[in-house]
Amino acid sequence: WPAHAAWADGELTVAGHGVRALAAEFGTPLYVLDAADFRARCSAWLDAFPNGDVHYGGKAFLAPAVVGWLAELGLCLDVCSGGELAVARVGGMPPERVVFHGNNKSVAEIRQAVAWGVGCIVLDSLHEVERVARAAAEAGTRQPVMVRVKPGIDAATHASLATGGERTKFGMSMASGEAMEAVRRVLGESALEFIGLHSHIGSQIFDLDSFAEAARRMVGFLRDVERRQGIVVGRLDLGGGLGIPYLPGEKPASTPADLADVLHAVVPAGIRLAVEPGRAIAGPSTVAVYEVGTVKGGFVAVDGGMSDNPRPATYGAVYTAVLASRHSAAPVEPVTVVGKHCESGDVLIEDIALPADLAPGDLIAIPCSGAYQRSTASNYNLVTRPPVVAVHENAAHAIVRRETEEDLLRLYP
Ligand code: LLP
Repeated sequence: WPAHAAWADGELTVAGHGVRALAAEFGTPLYVLDAADFRARCSAWLDAFPNGDVHYGGKAFLAPAVVGWLAELGLCLDVCSGGELAVARVGGMPPERVVFHGNNKSVAEIRQAVAWGVGCIVLDSLHEVERVARAAAEAGTRQPVMVRVKPGIDAATHASLATGGERTKFGMSMASGEAMEAVRRVLGESALEFIGLHSHIGSQIFDLDSFAEAARRMVGFLRDVERRQGIVVGRLDLGGGLGIPYLPGEKPASTPADLADVLHAVVPAGIRLAVEPGRAIAGPSTVAVYEVGTVKGGFVAVDGGMSDNPRPATYGAVYTAVLASRHSAAPVEPVTVVGKHCESGDVLIEDIALPADLAPGDLIAIPCSGAYQRSTASNYNLVTRPPVVAVHENAAHAIVRRETEEDLLRLYP
């Protein structure tokens, strides 16, 4: 639960705002983001890396208001599309604090990033060395770049979330010499400025040893680059991926300070470190609130589902939920929480104990809903995507408004 969640007469409140009033004002489904919690997690990462850089992974959840918090607190921002670049810009992030990622950035996106003056483009292939060099030359600038390397680590996580192995589509191989060749070509391009190396082993990873091993291999490769190319490499960006618990009783997350200790034990002080946490900042800050519509045959159907949270169907992700709008004295019974979509895979939580008197109109809340939920939400069945309401002590306002049917109809000529 977010730091400022509390219970008042059986009702869940976040930063003093009851979910019933929030649901009445903003409708359901609804994401409630504890702004102070989000910001405190940002600060914890900054404190853990005082001599490094913290790049928030915008793919977890991005909105102009979030960009504003990051900019104000002193974080950098990792983006991976023209859309995320656009939100970074309107949110007021200084371009020199933006890092542009992606395994297949379009030429238009590259031009957009170069023209805006982003602080770094992470080159993911030999093609991109050439594409970014051309875009920078055309724009008459010298673009700072990093080279993304496959560290050759198969971290323990869902296969779709592992990105550090030799067979991943991301980055270039150390083993085959491709990564070294990329550095060599970058150094030969006058429109590119080589600033460092990047790796990212995957997401929702609990095992700190995997991060340490990736760091070890990257430092080894960095020294190799220095020797072979006769340069000093000042920066190492080790990506994001720190896991968070989604269920009560699950192994607690490592803190940013735990990760910093592990990395600093491996990375010499002369190398400036960057990390890219997304989930660990956004995930715990937010609660999803749904209204119960139908209760039948062991199923509790809510007014959202796989369109606003595809994670259970996509990765077998597990969540917990509670009755959030009232106190119930009824015994609990196992039910399956499902959505409103037209397929049986539309399950949010299988087999969870909820009060037996759960009824239409009740609100249920699912914690840890801030990362990769609103950002991966779809319009499946032409549903409109939910708002994200940031709650502060004295105010609650939508930082992403609810989509409307007019928004959807605007797409059709
Ligand atoms: N840096 C890079 C280059 C990344 O690709 C990612 C995430 C991050 C940082 C942030 O990782 P985090 O700290 O959030 O784990 N949709 C999936 C997660 C995909 C992660 C994609 N890349 C899910 O719902 O679990």
